[in-house]
Amino acid sequence: MAEQKHGASRSRPVSSFIFICLLSVFINLDVAVGDGSSPSMVQYTPADNYLINCGSPDSTFLDDGRTFKSDPQSASFLSTEENILASVDSISNVVSSSSSSYFPSSSFPLYSSARIFSGVSMYRFLIFRPGRHLLRLYFYPLPHPSYNLTRAFFTVKTDSIVLLHDFSVEDDTRLMFKEYLLNVTSDKISLAFAPMRDSFAFVNAIELVSAPDALFSDSASAVSSPVGVFNGLSNYAFEVSYRVNVGGPIIPPKGDRLWRTWQPDDQLMTFPQGAKNVSVPPDIINYPEGGATPLIAPNLVYSTASEMADSGTANPNFNLTWTMSVDPSFSYLIRLHFCDIVSVSLNDLYFNVYVNGMMGVSGLDISTLTSGLAVPYYRDFVLNASAISNGSVMVQVGPSSGIQSSLPNAILNGLEVIKMSNSAGSLDGLFSVSGTQQNTLLGSRTMKIAEAFGLAVGMTAIFLLVAQAAERLGEARQFLDMASSFQFQPLQFHV
Ligand SMILES: *[C@@H]1O[C@H](CO)[C@@H](O)[C@H](O)[C@H]1NC(C)=O
Ligand SMILES: *[C@@H]1O[C@H](CO)[C@@H](O)[C@H](O)[C@H]1NC(C)=O
Ligand SMILES: *[C@@H]1O[C@H](CO)[C@@H](O)[C@H](O)[C@H]1NC(C)=O
Ligand SMILES: *[C@@H]1O[C@H](CO)[C@@H](O)[C@H](O)[C@H]1NC(C)=O
Ligand SMILES: *[C@@H]1O[C@H](CO)[C@@H](O)[C@H](O)[C@H]1NC(C)=O
Ligand SMILES: *[C@@H]1O[C@H](CO)[C@@H](O)[C@H](O)[C@H]1NC(C)=O
Repeated sequence: MAEQKHGASRSRPVSSFIFICLLSVFINLDVAVGDGSSPSMVQYTPADNYLINCGSPDSTFLDDGRTFKSDPQSASFLSTEENILASVDSISNVVSSSSSSYFPSSSFPLYSSARIFSGVSMYRFLIFRPGRHLLRLYFYPLPHPSYNLTRAFFTVKTDSIVLLHDFSVEDDTRLMFKEYLLNVTSDKISLAFAPMRDSFAFVNAIELVSAPDALFSDSASAVSSPVGVFNGLSNYAFEVSYRVNVGGPIIPPKGDRLWRTWQPDDQLMTFPQGAKNVSVPPDIINYPEGGATPLIAPNLVYSTASEMADSGTANPNFNLTWTMSVDPSFSYLIRLHFCDIVSVSLNDLYFNVYVNGMMGVSGLDISTLTSGLAVPYYRDFVLNASAISNGSVMVQVGPSSGIQSSLPNAILNGLEVIKMSNSAGSLDGLFSVSGTQQNTLLGSRTMKIAEAFGLAVGMTAIFLLVAQAAERLGEARQFLDMASSFQFQPLQFHV
């Protein structure tokens, strides 16, 4: 084992040298393509950058300048007993043109091949630089003569976090994309695909990329009780549920230094008639010294916004509202991006920001905070699971009742809704990586139900929970069976 490790480190300098050369080519390309950034643009070179197009016989070049390794080239990361692959020439026949306004077409080649696992299989990656990493997983159930991928049920987990539990992709007309932000504290990370009993697992592509430390601070404003500062964000694993370019089109990975995708907001606005798109040329966005950077969000996000449609004519008496359905058993980190691209002078725009009906910021005055117009600004909020009543996160901006020098208006430029891991260390369900089930969450849910419907309904709820618990016990047993078949295999490095 130690010898194999040594072998691996000997092969490193060469591969990282090639990697750095390739990377600099891509960065140059990126500059040449240009996205109108200000001269203060921040280059970003990820220390760890694993890109794998699973099941693909050849490496894959994307239009964002990145190359995904083929399946054979990435065999050294994977320990598995088997070699079951699926691929098609192209998936363009299954993705309708409408889905490309939500999914970047540049990533379609990543979905056209997959690796299938009939037993527990594990990728292991060396980590050069501990800290937050972006992990992106791509799933699409391709046809295979012996495996019907729409019937695959499986769990995906790292050494400490459950990412997906009893997961399946039953709809073969949709692409499935998952993005995580994990704080890797050791010098390696494993990614295990564990089929549920009698089933199998698959994955189409994997990305594991270092994220800049400055992407998240350790604290945010808590919007639900206890109101105040929430500390300790670095102890949580994240899953990005929504990342939205408000008032503008999709931004594909090519337009973002961390290869993120930003979706348009048209399906999330509850009263689009009340909103109006505004935009300015991206190159007038002026990143501040300290604060938001192009790594926080590209200028394409800050150069478009939604504002109130009848601002300037009447006295608008409504909020702009975005509603996103979420799993209500988790807490969420909500990042809102603002940039005053609507005012003609400083201190003209004041508005309130609400999250799930609770005051996030009262009388937000962006230009005073940033000392300028067209200067990016962002705020992070933590929304506790206990404050999610309707299975949704609702973000609102609306006029504040304070004294205004100009007509009331409110804007939003970008929006991220990020799921936070629960006390079981899971982002999906109540099981921890070791397969034990968390009971505290079940307890708090009992309380919520009892409060809402009173004792009579509460009794029924308890009955239901007992029934549910019995069901869960079965599930737990199944998970334990699976866990006992889980085999750790020594790392195989190719020198
Ligand atoms: C795969 O399974 C799904 C769901 O059970 C079923 O609808 C579909 O017909 C199956 N496909 C094939 C090719 O057997
Ligand atoms: C990751 O976790 C370690 C240990 O808890 C902590 O010291 C570090 O600040 C965290 N890093 C980030 C980027 O959150
Ligand atoms: C704003 O622009 C986006 C994308 O360009 C579009 O989908 C949306 O319908 C527009 N919204 C309004 C209110 O015009
Ligand atoms: C905006 O939303 C907040 C929170 O949901 C609510 O309290 C407020 O009354 C709304 N404002 C208007 C003008 O509807
Ligand atoms: C949510 O609230 C519960 C109960 O007050 C608390 O135990 C938990 O730590 C909170 N979680 C977050 C992420 O705020
Ligand atoms: C809850 O959801 C229902 C149905 O989707 C909707 O009619 C209602 O307005 C929502 N309530 C809140 C407080 O968001």
